[in-house]
Amino acid sequence: MNVPPELLAQPQPETEMTGSTRRFKLVTGTAHPDLAHEVSAELDTPLSSAYVGRFPDGEIDIKVHDDMRGADVFLIQPTCPPVNEYILETVLLLDTLRRASAGRITMVMPYFGYARKDRKDEGRVPISAKVVANMLVTAGCDRVLTIDLHAQQIQGFFDIPVDHLWARPVLQEQIRAMNLENLVICSPDVGGVKLARAWAKNLDCGLAIVDKRRTGGDSVVMENIIGDVAGHDVLITDDMISTAGTITEAARILKDKGAHRIFIAATHAVLCGPARERLESCPAEAILVTNTIPLHGEMPRNMKQVSVAPLLAHAINRIHREESVSALFD
Ligand code: R5P
Repeated sequence: MNVPPELLAQPQPETEMTGSTRRFKLVTGTAHPDLAHEVSAELDTPLSSAYVGRFPDGEIDIKVHDDMRGADVFLIQPTCPPVNEYILETVLLLDTLRRASAGRITMVMPYFGYARKDRKDEGRVPISAKVVANMLVTAGCDRVLTIDLHAQQIQGFFDIPVDHLWARPVLQEQIRAMNLENLVICSPDVGGVKLARAWAKNLDCGLAIVDKRRTGGDSVVMENIIGDVAGHDVLITDDMISTAGTITEAARILKDKGAHRIFIAATHAVLCGPARERLESCPAEAILVTNTIPLHGEMPRNMKQVSVAPLLAHAINRIHREESVSALFD
């Protein structure tokens, strides 16, 4: 049998960016196209052409125009509010890519919705984070790239590789530039101590912890602080600001206990319910957040957004090249 010579040729790298023999594709849903465009610019790789819309009855309509066969595909989509809408859109996009014969699909999910429901802490409640993880994997996701999961152990909810990035170095650059002296890092609850300790270690300053009790979905009570904050500038660190009850109540009690100036650094700005009003009237000098979630409408006056696009682009490049991602934080 005569085999055509082109079928005997060795596969050649198809992207200039990497030495991988797989084609490299970036796809976005509708959750955060601005971030996807930023990542695409950082990587100097265009987003693949795709249509993601709605049928007249509200059902999701998808058509990916580019050929995905065999490609190393990165789907950029945080599962942020409206979370149920974007989770289903993500699942359908994953299914589309899988059925289009993508070689490998990495879900670039800078924010993972439902992460706070990660255990059965009382009878007859779901472990929603696990259910969502199952849905993504079943739909065709091969790897996950994410930032500041609410709890590290959520990585184990996915039976596929998870690359977990920290936004702290990105936020920390801004804090360093402020040249704050006499600074103390404060975790607004016990769950955030590990993050706050990492900040304190890197900035070589003291640590304080607020004793928080949640009394409802958008209400918390704080009465005690462990650590010395009187006369200090204090930086409150957290993984997310949702209704802003936690962070603004922490700022209030820190002021009551004699803290000088208050600064806030949090990764995910969910900003739902009364968050904006609370942040507007919060005594913080500056509130730093990242763009893992799009900020719609006006930003609270004291808020500044820092981009995670360069961090994601570096990680995507490394995953595509089969290089270490943790080396980014060495
Ligand atoms: C709690 O464990 C988290 O780290 C955040 O502190 C919390 O989810 C923020 O929620 P909210 O802004 O509604 O108080």
